[in-house]
Amino acid sequence: MPKSSVTLATVTIREATTSDAAILAALSTQLGYPAQPEEAAERLSALGPDSAVLVAEENGAVLGWIHVCGMRFFQSPPFAEVGGLVVDEASRGKGVGKLLLDAGARWAAERGYRKLRVRSNVIREDTHRFYERESFRRVKTQVVLDRELGQEVRLPRRDPGSGLPSC
Ligand SMILES: CC(C)(COP(=O)(O)OP(=O)(O)OC[C@H]1O[C@@H](n2cnc3c(N)ncnc32)[C@H](O)[C@@H]1OP(=O)(O)O)[C@@H](O)C(=O)NCCC(=O)NCCS
Repeated sequence: MPKSSVTLATVTIREATTSDAAILAALSTQLGYPAQPEEAAERLSALGPDSAVLVAEENGAVLGWIHVCGMRFFQSPPFAEVGGLVVDEASRGKGVGKLLLDAGARWAAERGYRKLRVRSNVIREDTHRFYERESFRRVKTQVVLDRELGQEVRLPRRDPGSGLPSC
C-alpha cells in the first residue's frame, strides 16, 4: 500500500459517528477483527456512556481509531482500558498512533481514572515497543480462554422456605 503523506499538525481527533462506519470497519479488519460497516455502526451505537471511539482525521480522511472504556472489577479499583487501537497501514510510523493514545489517555484522566491499561497479543512485538515508548510498563502475561455459551443447564429453582428445590 502506498504511504500517505501525513502532516501531524493537520491531524485532528474527534469522536467517531455512525457515518464513519465504513472506515471504522475497514480499519478493524486491518487490526485483525474483520467487520462489516453495519456491524461497526451497530457496535458504536451500542457503546455505553463510559466508552468512546475517537478517530484521527486529516482533510476529512480517517487515519485511525482508538476505543477506550472504563473497567470495573470487584477485586480492583476502576481503571480505563484501550479496547482497540489501529492506524491505517499507509499512515503508520508518523505519530498518529501516539496522538490517538494521548487522546484516549486524556479521555480517561478527565473521567477520573488513574490508570490506563492495554492488553496486546504477544505476537505484536512492534506494538509493545510503541506502548513501552509511550510510558506503559509490562505488568503480567495472561492466557485468554473463551467458553461458547448456549448449552447451559438450568439450576432447579429453590423454595426459599424449605431450602429444597421447588418445581
Ligand atoms: C501500533 C499502532 C497503532 C501505532 O500507530 P503508529 O501511528 O504507527 O504509531 P506512531 O507513529 O505514533 O509510533 C510508531 C511506533 O509504532 C510501532 N509500530 C508498530 N507497528 C508499526 C508499523 N506497522 N509501522 C510503523 N510503526 C509501527 C513502532 O514501535 C514504532 O516505533 P519506531 O518508530 O520506534 O519503530 C499501529 O502501528 C498499528 O495500527 N499497528 C497494527 C495494529 C496494532 O497492533 N494495534 C494495537 C493493538 S493492541
